[in-house]
Amino acid sequence: MSLSNKNKKIYITQPLLPSITSLNSHFDDIWTSKIVTNMGKKHNELESKLKNVLKVQNVSLFNNGTIALLVAIKALDLPVGSEIITTPFTFAATPHCISWNGLKPVFCDIEPNTMTIDADKIEKLITPNTSAILGVHVYGFPCDVEKIDKIAKKYNLKVIYDAAHAFSAEINNNGIGNYGDITMFSFHATKLFNTIEGGCLTYNDERLIRKIYDLRNFGIQSEELVEDIGINGKLNEIQAAIGLENLKLYKAEQEKRAKIKAFYDEKLSSIKSITIPKMPENTTNSYQYYPIIIEDDYPLTRNELYEKFKKENIYTRKYFYPVCTDYECYKNNASVEASDLKVVNNLKHKILCLPYYGALTIDELNTIYEVIKNG
Ligand SMILES: Cc1ncc(COP(=O)(O)O)c(C=O)c1O
Repeated sequence: MSLSNKNKKIYITQPLLPSITSLNSHFDDIWTSKIVTNMGKKHNELESKLKNVLKVQNVSLFNNGTIALLVAIKALDLPVGSEIITTPFTFAATPHCISWNGLKPVFCDIEPNTMTIDADKIEKLITPNTSAILGVHVYGFPCDVEKIDKIAKKYNLKVIYDAAHAFSAEINNNGIGNYGDITMFSFHATKLFNTIEGGCLTYNDERLIRKIYDLRNFGIQSEELVEDIGINGKLNEIQAAIGLENLKLYKAEQEKRAKIKAFYDEKLSSIKSITIPKMPENTTNSYQYYPIIIEDDYPLTRNELYEKFKKENIYTRKYFYPVCTDYECYKNNASVEASDLKVVNNLKHKILCLPYYGALTIDELNTIYEVIKNG
């Protein structure tokens, strides 16, 4: 007999949505002003509030995280055709943004505990063509920002971070968006804090403010001056309003997820062939994903467990399988041969992200646990 209510599908997440009534006054404002996009009042209010939430000096909002990352790379004026060292254990957007900028992704292996780019393996991939390192704070686990910073200084490289999963995460009480030259956050509907689609860049160099502002708006500097080859990266007023309301809700959602994490941590720690990756001591969790590692001595493979969940109408996710170096467009990338991708090529077959959102009931959590426990 099935363990769960067959009619109800449990997905990996549910979007955090404000009540419709809380949006009414925003709609009134927007309809009255007739300013619906192009850096309006709601947009600017959200930008300014996010500076405090993320504990950073500068925030530029975008219509999604991918365009934000595309602009981050563009804003750094890296030499045409140069190489950016990055991780294959990420979403497609990360290396695609490098490629869309006419640059080459060079894939580096990951560190087994944090699953982020292995800073100890970066140096041997540096060539005279390397211009930057692009680390991903995957699941909100922080990259080794100090080691990466040292390497970047030694070789005069730029550093970009993809913090799509790391909203509000901190390292030593410092907002994670303060590391490197530019950091990108995604506000996609699947992200804990969301504007349905959206994202932002954070950075400390004041000279980037104008550059990023213009690149986000087609490179237009003034009515009669277009200087850079920009793009349309603007977040509209309705999405900004959803962001303003979700800012009031995200902490309560994190608290609910903290309880779910405590449940999973306690129950799953008793299953010896399941490993729960641990956040480093000095960091705060973004509560974006709950990954587990299905070890070789577990009775089922990761794929078998994934299928077993599906039969129960529970949709876990194999984040990240395939990894970027498996994609048709990157499998012949020169670095795939040159790099030792041992850790990532092992982990990609074992990783599974469990459903993780505040509205999960205790019955649903118990069902998820039973599926794993019974193997
Ligand atoms: C690691 C990572 N980078 C970049 C992105 C792209 O962000 P967006 O969906 O906001 O374009 C995502 C995904 O959603 C992601 O998971």
